Amino acid sequence: MQIEMRHVNKAFDGFHASRDVSFGVESGRLAALLGPSGSGKTTILRMIAGLDSPDSGDILIKGERVNNLPGSKRGIGLVFQNYALFRYMTVADNIAFGLKVQKKGKHEIKARVEELLELISMKELGRRYPYQLSGGQRQRVAFARALAPNPQLLLLDEPFAAIDAKIRRELRRWLKEKIEMVGITSIFVTHDQEEAMEVADMVIVMNEGAVEQIGTPENICRNPRTGFVKDFIDVERFEALRLIGKKRYKENS
Ligand SMILES: Nc1ncnc2c1ncn2[C@@H]1O[C@H](COP(=O)(O)OP(=O)(O)O)[C@@H](O)[C@H]1O
Ligand SMILES: [Mg+2]
Repeated sequence: MQIEMRHVNKAFDGFHASRDVSFGVESGRLAALLGPSGSGKTTILRMIAGLDSPDSGDILIKGERVNNLPGSKRGIGLVFQNYALFRYMTVADNIAFGLKVQKKGKHEIKARVEELLELISMKELGRRYPYQLSGGQRQRVAFARALAPNPQLLLLDEPFAAIDAKIRRELRRWLKEKIEMVGITSIFVTHDQEEAMEVADMVIVMNEGAVEQIGTPENICRNPRTGFVKDFIDVERFEALRLIGKKRYKENS
């Protein structure tokens, strides 16, 4: 497993934000943490990133317990809503930021920034400032900035929440394609079931701080194991959108 949570608990002033959370994500997978607002998704990402620590339980990266390792040493790239681009830096400088922190050489930084500008199809836009970009372009830059130092794990918290519906759909397909191309293990948080079903190869359904079910999108749709999952997942909608195959022997099909 690239990343593993084992019986993780976390409370804020007596409020249980994580309840005995256990799951693992294999190397190269794109996993979605899916659940309603307040179900504890961001809390989990923050603990993986080292921005919060669990009250009990373990977090492992490649089999090593990282509970006491500072976030900056965990090899994690973040695309969080509250980690917006640096407004007074150009696109290229935003992407270079993590590499400068690592004190990489000038030429290496330049080459890596060009490579990433190409990856996000923004080769000509390196000198622009964030305010000169669309919302979708900004999120692409945030993605490139997170990837620049070659992290072993990418965490994305509702990366498309602030973007309008049509572009959001294009952008998430784009993101899936790029993540597969780069081959980086990724966990993204969303409350949008359609987004999770369309993008992820593995879905972790959360409710009230606990994991309700883990499986492929198809598996979760076909075999909801709890009443919550059954209510939360709109199977017919996914069939209509062809995100999952049609059930055999279904009437009128
Ligand atoms: N720093 C904090 N202090 C107090 N309560 C918090 C804190 N962070 C999260 N919570 C609470 O924990 C619950 C889960 O929050 P969160 O993980 O952000 O959920 P989600 O990302 O699924 O919307 C919420 O009820 C939230 O109010
Ligand atoms: Mg959240």
